[in-house]
Amino acid sequence: MKLAIYVHIPFCKSKCLYCDFYSIVSDRFEDYLFALLKEVELYKKVLEESEVETVYFGGGTPSVVPPSFLLKVLESLARFSKRFAPSEVTVEVNPESIDQKKLKTYKKIGINRISLGVQSCDDDVLKKIGRLYNEKTLRKKADIVLSSFENVNFDFILGLPGETDRTLDKNLKFLEKFTPQHTSLYFLEIDEGTRLFNLLKKKIVVLPDEEEVEKRHDIFVEFLKRKEFKRYEISNFSKPGMESQHNLFYWRNWNYLGLGASAGGHIGKERYTNVSDIKKYAEMVNRKIFPREYYHVNSEKEEALETIFMGLRTIEGVDLKRVKILLPLIERLQEKYTCYVKVKNDKIFLSERGMDYSKKIFSDLIEWYQEGEK
Ligand SMILES: C[S@@+](CC[C@H](N)C(=O)[O-])C[C@H]1O[C@@H](n2cnc3c(N)ncnc32)[C@H](O)[C@@H]1O
Ligand code: SF4
Repeated sequence: MKLAIYVHIPFCKSKCLYCDFYSIVSDRFEDYLFALLKEVELYKKVLEESEVETVYFGGGTPSVVPPSFLLKVLESLARFSKRFAPSEVTVEVNPESIDQKKLKTYKKIGINRISLGVQSCDDDVLKKIGRLYNEKTLRKKADIVLSSFENVNFDFILGLPGETDRTLDKNLKFLEKFTPQHTSLYFLEIDEGTRLFNLLKKKIVVLPDEEEVEKRHDIFVEFLKRKEFKRYEISNFSKPGMESQHNLFYWRNWNYLGLGASAGGHIGKERYTNVSDIKKYAEMVNRKIFPREYYHVNSEKEEALETIFMGLRTIEGVDLKRVKILLPLIERLQEKYTCYVKVKNDKIFLSERGMDYSKKIFSDLIEWYQEGEK
């Protein structure tokens, strides 16, 4: 079985105002590493049947832990897997916690892809969202990442407090000078419980106008296209052949293991999410129990629905043979969204405009599915 592996590193130097991913500010990594290695052992049977294709260290901030930590995880995965020769091993890094030496060590231990969290290049915006670097540092770090690795992603967020046409322009100029092989472009999501959510509620912070943000999104997308990036997923753009192989496992609804606190996995028709709290997580794996807070075996219909949801995010779309159990739903979708939903060579996919309209399309899909299940 071909397998992708996600490993969650839940440590950060400080918490950004908008972030809802599970992470804590701590530098006590040892117990967590020990627990991660125990969790790998719990998946001995799965790994013994698996050819590991990709590994992704995400966070949190994987660049705050010593590279030796990541190496121990890789070694342990290699020990248990039927075949461990991943073509892609990614680590998410933050500008303030990488340097030339760390990047060199990453290379040595088999990491071949870097994902740098840029978010914005403007000092005022960076300050407003609680990032720990300024434009000057960012430029220095982007430069060393690009000169050390041939497969690099930059993450940007649109709609951040303080964003204007001028800050957009700065981002584009930055990308002109420092051009990675892959770019992710997200709209800011406001999650309840984040500091940003509370500041917005109290009107201490304001967000840029939504229509303006949409316009800036279009300008950003056009810019990326001019630079020969292909929009191969709603929020992801790559130079030819540089798509994220790991993320394609998610979007194709293939098999992946999620290891670590709050990580999620999908094996066969099983879906799970691990507990978030690292103490609880460690306690469970030490008792040799899968550290899960959610576990569900999908019905054939549920599996097909997930496959549609994930697949429609990409330009390759969904193979109709995989989802024929939900054919009536697909026909309804085609009828309502003739211009946005296309079928060609037994594949269903969204047009480029359809991608920008995906929220509405996905919400209809869910509604119709639930109606059918009543
Ligand atoms: C899980 S974060 C971790 C990456 C790394 N620690 C960093 O901060 O750059 C991965 C990416 O998710 C995106 N992200 C995180 N929170 C977001 C939010 N509330 N809205 C939109 N994108 C978000 C950011 O672009 C970020 O780089
Ligand atoms: S955005 Fe990244 S650095 Fe900031 S709190 Fe979230 S995971 Fe940590």
